[in-house]
Amino acid sequence: MKKSNTPRYVSRAELKKERLDVFKNAPVFLRWKTDSTNVRLKMLAERGATEGTLYIARTQTKGRGRQGRKFFSPKGNGLYFSLLLRPNLRAEEGGLITTAAAVAVCRALSRFGAKNPKIKWVNDVFVEGKKVCGILTESHAEQGKIVYAVLGVGINISVPKKGFDKSIQTVAGAAFAMPVSPAALLAAFLDEFCVLYQNISALPHYGEYRSRMLFVGEKVTVETANDRFYATVLGITPTFSLSVRMENGEVCELSQGEVSLRQGAIGKE
Ligand code: BTN
Repeated sequence: MKKSNTPRYVSRAELKKERLDVFKNAPVFLRWKTDSTNVRLKMLAERGATEGTLYIARTQTKGRGRQGRKFFSPKGNGLYFSLLLRPNLRAEEGGLITTAAAVAVCRALSRFGAKNPKIKWVNDVFVEGKKVCGILTESHAEQGKIVYAVLGVGINISVPKKGFDKSIQTVAGAAFAMPVSPAALLAAFLDEFCVLYQNISALPHYGEYRSRMLFVGEKVTVETANDRFYATVLGITPTFSLSVRMENGEVCELSQGEVSLRQGAIGKE
């Protein structure tokens, strides 16, 4: 089989070609291997790194996901990076970053031919029924205001040679069937994200987030730290809380925190 010329790794040369200048010359850290780009960038943020600083790794040994989960980050198949933001947002508005990033990821994937990317509230992007991207924003606030936010994005560009880890085999998938350059994908993401970020308090991504959402009108299982219930998804509120109708007919709003969703009513199928 003919080998593709599309690079499988982010390199300095590729980054240069893509001209990642959206955050005006903020530094770019590029590593072969790191524990977690979010952890590394948080350390830099604490030491005063500027907005727009990027931390990219070709593989992560301790990629972090929401709710203490691991994010599988094999080399040669994905794009794993963190972007430092210093937004003018209140602590409770931190979710705007994750949701804007989800829309930006969908747009970037579409530029390279991914079919109709969808968002699973609140931070996952799906293509053809499989999770292809996870987003984890970790922020630090003082006196109710965000001092910095580390936006971490992991995208499965292609299927790893040995397949996805057993623990995620049924859920995870690749965004593309054809090779796509991770640096070009990163540039497309930054391009799309910056447009939304400039005006983020005005919720420029709200309509698109809603229209890309999975499970609207469907039954889901809602899991919190100490509860599990069935509900029908109605949509999202302007603060990106999930609006659901419970089985007793009551409508309630779930905020992002520690809630996760599963398709269908488990045990009731
Ligand atoms: C999730 O699926 O719950 C979120 C996954 C976020 C993964 C990305 S990969 C780059 C950045 N560094 C991390 O340790 N996590 C994020």
